[in-house]
Amino acid sequence: MKRLMRNRATPIIRELLAGDGLSVAKLVQPIFVEEGLQTSTELAGLRGNFRMGVEAALKQIESDLAQSVRNFMLFPLPAAKGISPDSGAQIIAAIKKRFGADIHLWVDTCLCSTSPLGHCCLFHEKNPLSNNGAVTPNIDLEATLEALASYALAFAQAGADGIAPSDMMDGRVAAIRSNLDQNAFNHIPIMSYSTKFASQFYGPFRDAADSSPAFGDRKQYQIDVRNRDDAINASIRCADEGADLLMLKPGMTSIDLLSPIRKKTQLPVGVYQVSGEYAALDLLAREGFADFNKALLETWQVYRRAGAQFIITYGARKALDLGVPAL
Ligand code: PBG
Repeated sequence: MKRLMRNRATPIIRELLAGDGLSVAKLVQPIFVEEGLQTSTELAGLRGNFRMGVEAALKQIESDLAQSVRNFMLFPLPAAKGISPDSGAQIIAAIKKRFGADIHLWVDTCLCSTSPLGHCCLFHEKNPLSNNGAVTPNIDLEATLEALASYALAFAQAGADGIAPSDMMDGRVAAIRSNLDQNAFNHIPIMSYSTKFASQFYGPFRDAADSSPAFGDRKQYQIDVRNRDDAINASIRCADEGADLLMLKPGMTSIDLLSPIRKKTQLPVGVYQVSGEYAALDLLAREGFADFNKALLETWQVYRRAGAQFIITYGARKALDLGVPAL
């Protein structure tokens, strides 16, 4: 059964997905929260964004709420690497305990920030590099899907309002959907990173989330920017597997795909203005070549013009100050 009601379940998701124009209600603020971290550090290239412990994150969310931000994309970071959703679940529980239905907490669901190898998947061999020194990893898809589905369930049980798988593994949306449904979480929406390109523009993020691959790169599972059909098919596939919202990333390299994907899937399609895009504006401004705030606003306006239903951006918390209306 298609469950269209997931996208209408709360006032926050209704505002995220309804209507035209630009408002803070259509912006999603990423937050990086690390288990047990005592002092916050500002993220290089992402001015105004911090890697925080839970206490600092609660204060940050409170101040973001005062700026009308209601949607957050949580990147839970463990104190020590290891394949387990536990630290993420604790962070989610602490945030939801404090804010309840005042926020919609999307949780980036991936293995790369918890994996010692920094990849979004698990491998058949313990050390894929031993394979003749070849960097072509040997992905264990079955084990990867199982791990992702268990992360998603643990996050939902801890109070996540939405699951956002960012790994690009074949079959992960279906695996997550079925694990959620079997455990009475069929009301939890999945926002799939459905068309995600292998990109140079994730640099500041990988520092922030400490998630650079220890070997090789992500081209085995992320899409080649030259392949339009592959890019569109990846989103259609996520729609077929049961995604409720689709998301294209980096936003800038996906502008032309918004409208065809929306037409083909009839699902809400958003963009992620990724770390490198945000940092690029900052660098321009630092060199005196642009006004940061005006440039940021301009990019959001273009995303909306191109048909993005929502925008994940490191500047969501600045939007109200830039004159973007709350609703
Ligand atoms: C994890 C993930 C990444 C981003 C979001 N989730 C990094 C990657 O795939 O390498 C990038 C976000 C950004 O650059 O702002 N899979």
